[in-house]
Amino acid sequence: MNNKEVVAKIIFDVVHDDLTLDQVEYLLENPKSAAHGDVAFPTFSLAKIYRKAPQQIASELAEQIDDTAFEKVEVVGPYINFFMDKKKVSHDVLTTVIEQGEHYGDFNIGNDDNVPIDMSSPNIAKPISMGHLRSTVIGNSIALILQKVGYQPVKINHLGDWGTQFGKLIVAYKKWGIEEKVRNNPIEELLNLYVEFHEKAEEEPALEEEGRAAFRKLENGDQEAVDLWKWFRSESLKEFDKIYDMLGITFDSYKGEAFYEDKMDEIVELLEEKHLLKEDRGAEIVDLSAYDLNPALIKKRDGGTLYITRDMAAALYRKRTYDFAKSLYVVGNEQSYHFKQLKAVLKEMGFDWSDDMHHIPFGLITKDGKKLSTRKGTVVLLEEVLNDAI
Ligand code: ARG
Repeated sequence: MNNKEVVAKIIFDVVHDDLTLDQVEYLLENPKSAAHGDVAFPTFSLAKIYRKAPQQIASELAEQIDDTAFEKVEVVGPYINFFMDKKKVSHDVLTTVIEQGEHYGDFNIGNDDNVPIDMSSPNIAKPISMGHLRSTVIGNSIALILQKVGYQPVKINHLGDWGTQFGKLIVAYKKWGIEEKVRNNPIEELLNLYVEFHEKAEEEPALEEEGRAAFRKLENGDQEAVDLWKWFRSESLKEFDKIYDMLGITFDSYKGEAFYEDKMDEIVELLEEKHLLKEDRGAEIVDLSAYDLNPALIKKRDGGTLYITRDMAAALYRKRTYDFAKSLYVVGNEQSYHFKQLKAVLKEMGFDWSDDMHHIPFGLITKDGKKLSTRKGTVVLLEEVLNDAI
């Protein structure tokens, strides 16, 4: 029993013909100043019933109240102030904590419903950054809280393991990469190659097209491209796991963006069926002006799919797989617009469960007032930060 429940019971013992236990508990206040006790009972609402001044009611009630369990009970004007017996309260609380252990404070509002939590979700072939730390630890805390209140959290690491950047990385590796070096130091070497690609591409814009072509090859299942991609992915996962071990955080699923590669056709078909796709300069878009949002770009001119298309496939997959009560995305606030569009497109498709999807944003971590950029090599490595902290 918490303090209010204890006090409510004592007061109810003397007023029980006139107020219910719930009414008494509802009336109780937490005084702003400790000088007025821990819990206060205002007697105004009894004035009508008893046809007496509240001050008088307070004094009369206080006389009948069993105050043995309290440090003291004081009447101040129309209020009865209760001072809890700190020794007793501490003893009771600690005894309960010891008895109930990790189940202390459990309650069930979740009915065991599933709640997928999209969290951490770093991009492979890049180091986990400080930004991913926030998603990881906030996501994990939310999972623990949900579990405590009776939900089944499903922690999903939606790895960034697909997209044009892997085309760029394949091009960079084939041009300048040394297998030996990548084997010994995968993340650092792959990051160097990625940074190098962007430096060179500034002077040699044709590289960008090569990168896009290499990604198309990957999408079409070209053996060499797929093998390189698999290798980059597994090396990256090994590195990520070191960090998750340090944090003591585990995941229920590592299905990342690549997993949805063969599930996007269905999305495009559904959009076509519902006549939602529009052509715009060769690209396929969904108009979202009804939601006051810019159109969602579903397919690029070259047929390549996009981040949002993969997220649509992932949302549908999660609904089908987990029949979720809520679906959470713990992702930085720089992606707020993306999640607004994502929810809007799904809603437009008639998926009303998109209302149960929630983006949980957090602020951007900057260094010297600037955004951390993997491309520019100014990223702060999470592993270094954790080691420093330890
Ligand atoms: N990989 C992305 C990033 O590092 C985060 C992915 C968030 N989750 C999602 N379903 N879009 O920015």
